[in-house]
Amino acid sequence: MKKFDQYIQIYGLVIIAFSYISVLNSNKHDSNLVKISETGACIKHILPKYYATANQGKSEKDLDYKQLRINFGNYSDYEFQQYIGKGASGHAYLGLQKSTKNKVVIKTFKSLRWSSIKREIVFMQIVQGHDLISPLVDVIKNNNIVSLVYNRYIVFPTSQLIKTMTDNGNKLFLYQTLKALDYVHSKGVIHGDIKPGNIIANPNKKLFKLIDWGLSMYYVPGRPKNPSVGTKSYQSPEILLRYQYYDYQIDVYAVGFMFSQMIFKENNPFKGTKKLGKEKIQYIHRIARVFGTEGLKEVAKKMNSNFDFNDFPDYQPVNLNKFINSSNQQYCQSEALDLLQKMMHYDAKKRITPKDALKHQYFDSIRHQFE
Ligand SMILES: Nc1ncnc2c1ncn2[C@@H]1O[C@H](COP(=O)(O)OP(=O)(O)OP(=O)(O)O)[C@@H](O)[C@H]1O
Ligand SMILES: *[C@@H]1O[C@H](CO)[C@@H](O)[C@H](O)[C@H]1NC(C)=O
Ligand SMILES: *[C@@H]1O[C@H](CO)[C@@H](O)[C@H](O)[C@H]1NC(C)=O
Ligand SMILES: [Mg+2]
Repeated sequence: MKKFDQYIQIYGLVIIAFSYISVLNSNKHDSNLVKISETGACIKHILPKYYATANQGKSEKDLDYKQLRINFGNYSDYEFQQYIGKGASGHAYLGLQKSTKNKVVIKTFKSLRWSSIKREIVFMQIVQGHDLISPLVDVIKNNNIVSLVYNRYIVFPTSQLIKTMTDNGNKLFLYQTLKALDYVHSKGVIHGDIKPGNIIANPNKKLFKLIDWGLSMYYVPGRPKNPSVGTKSYQSPEILLRYQYYDYQIDVYAVGFMFSQMIFKENNPFKGTKKLGKEKIQYIHRIARVFGTEGLKEVAKKMNSNFDFNDFPDYQPVNLNKFINSSNQQYCQSEALDLLQKMMHYDAKKRITPKDALKHQYFDSIRHQFE
């Protein structure tokens, strides 16, 4: 039996190797359906359209962020000035670097969880150097408290900002989010926690940065990942169905959800109701009530999900036009709804990629500002 398992594993690896080759040789991605055998079950794994091979050639050791050795900076060179708030991992402060007079933000980790500290540093370092990404300045340690130091930007609370942005503001915001994501994905990295709180923006200066690498991951074909990632409302169907072979496209779904908040405002189709219960299932219902049960079942089947549809209602897909009223119609033109549907497609494989979304008609009026 053991021999047989080994054979299956090797067979799986050979298929992955072939799929790499077929990615390099063809543009027809639908042919890249790969079957990976794992603990006896057959899981259909489909490669993403772009950047499937970004981490090719890296060994498990290369991919292990716990191997990082940190060079700590000079703790006494920083002054903690003002407490900003509490996050999932620790506390954030406004600060000052004494030697340079640079204004910084200092993010402290409340406990010495080296794996999450190293995770954030490693992924931050991979993606830094891009305009739309807030750079890491230093890592400091005092007794048992480790802090990451970032350049400080004057920002506006994004969760409030997206409720009040104009149509033009929505476009600028979304375009830059997608542009940053295309870059992140090109580095073989899934951000993993896209939401307004992890995007900093200043509406006056048109400044925009993507932050928070605390849940980021490498994408490697066939390498299973923990589906407990992201923030509830922003979680994609594949995450909610606990699929382990998800890819970059979970980030696009999260952007799509944010987009729905930006255009529908108060009349959001994915509004939760207490009636659906508090648990994770509520979030699946919220999606299915809009896009229908049939499509969800199809995608669940493709992923070999054991989600129990027995007591699940047979929701019919709803036309998004139903959610337009005179308060939100100026944001909900047909191009917006078309792009939104493409970003929230049940099937990650058919969901539009950041690279392709940047070419969507919705951005025709603002694209020249970035070229
Ligand atoms: N470079 C920066 N300039 C200004 N403000 C920043 C900067 N980086 C982070 N912040 C602020 O600090 C907050 C926390 O940052 P971050 O998201 O990295 O930490 P977190 O502990 O993961 O928080 P959360 O759990 O809320 O996501 C951000 O929401 C943002 O308001
Ligand atoms: C650390 O920073 C403090 C304050 O700027 C400075 O006085 C000190 O010389 C620095 N130490 C080192 C080793 O650079
Ligand atoms: C649009 O719908 C939202 C939510 O149902 C409501 O709060 C708002 O008043 C509506 N606007 C108009 C003009 O009907
Ligand atoms: Mg955050």
